[in-house]
Amino acid sequence: MKAFVINKYSKNGGLQLAEMPVPEVKDNDVLVDVYAAGVNLLDSKIKTGEFKLILPYKMPLILGHDVAGVIVKVGKKVKKFKISDEVYARPADYRIGTFAEFIAIDENDVALKPKNLSMEEAASIPLVALTAWQVLVEKAQIKEGQKVFIQAGSGGVGTIAIQLAKHFGAIVATTASAKSFDLLNELGTDLIIDYKNSDFENRLNNYDVVLNSQDQKTLEKSLEILKSGGKLISISGPPTPDFAKEINAPWFVKMILSLLSFGIRKKAKNKNVEYSFLFMKANGDQLDKLTQLIESGKIKPVLDKVFPFEKTNEALAHVESGRSKGKVVIRIK
Ligand SMILES: NC(=O)c1ccc[n+]([C@@H]2O[C@H](COP(=O)([O-])OP(=O)(O)OC[C@H]3O[C@@H](n4cnc5c(N)ncnc54)[C@H](OP(=O)(O)O)[C@@H]3O)[C@@H](O)[C@H]2O)c1
Repeated sequence: MKAFVINKYSKNGGLQLAEMPVPEVKDNDVLVDVYAAGVNLLDSKIKTGEFKLILPYKMPLILGHDVAGVIVKVGKKVKKFKISDEVYARPADYRIGTFAEFIAIDENDVALKPKNLSMEEAASIPLVALTAWQVLVEKAQIKEGQKVFIQAGSGGVGTIAIQLAKHFGAIVATTASAKSFDLLNELGTDLIIDYKNSDFENRLNNYDVVLNSQDQKTLEKSLEILKSGGKLISISGPPTPDFAKEINAPWFVKMILSLLSFGIRKKAKNKNVEYSFLFMKANGDQLDKLTQLIESGKIKPVLDKVFPFEKTNEALAHVESGRSKGKVVIRIK
């Protein structure tokens, strides 16, 4: 099968188009004929080696963390799915590889594709929507009336996180540049701050939850807007020793993460704010819940651009530009 791979970590080079074997289907796996694949910054971060401490991959590696497609084979123990089901998924770490014609995925990480979405729309959902769910529902346990600040509302995570927070009755503030204001109003955002000419830390206070997806400076400023007992959840680092424990990282990784996060953990403690780092996980059951919200119109995909398979490198470069509005998707079939 055709696939886009890396043979080594590299900051500059693109992905190579290669001929790879169709993946082996284990007992609990489904083999998916890939119709569309979502592109994420994580693909780029893995390509450059930025994640090699946390996710040490073997080469050659097929990149790609989001898929929508059709099941063409099922493992002996698969219970939930059958051949010809239309599905979508964020395959688990170490089993990624959606920039390819086929991928084998554990059935527990898969869900039926929302009926009202095209393959391209469905492929835009899993990684960012599971991230939003795991931050807002699992970790923050947001409640009606709580104030939530979601940075970069026009991004892949932001567009879905805003809709999810609104569904749970939160009051949502976000940052964006002026060209995205219409989109963010449509998504139901309560307060939009133009990050290019206004400082959010001077406009927001007494917040319950912050979803941080930006740099260290933004992370520290986010502390200022939280109330005592509030939650600062970062998806862009720095990871904590708790996270190292969660992924069973070796002692030296735990030590490095402890040093990297020392400053923010100390500042958060002084303010009585809970700081945590979250790295999203594959989860078919949560994806099923998101499917219900999508089919009932509560959450809509936001697509920036669809690229053909042969332009996978252009798609990745577009995401790396940091300017996409919603998601970038590759059409494979
Ligand atoms: N830990 C996890 O599990 C996890 C999961 C998903 C994502 N992430 C990370 O979270 C970050 C965001 O991911 P994403 O997929 O949402 O990114 P994205 O879609 O590439 O974000 C692009 C958007 O960010 C906006 N933006 C850029 N700089 C901004 C700023 N200073 N303030 C406010 N908005 C800004 C841009 O708007 P303008 O064009 O108007 O500037 C653009 O619409 C990335 O670092 C990603 O790796 C982590």
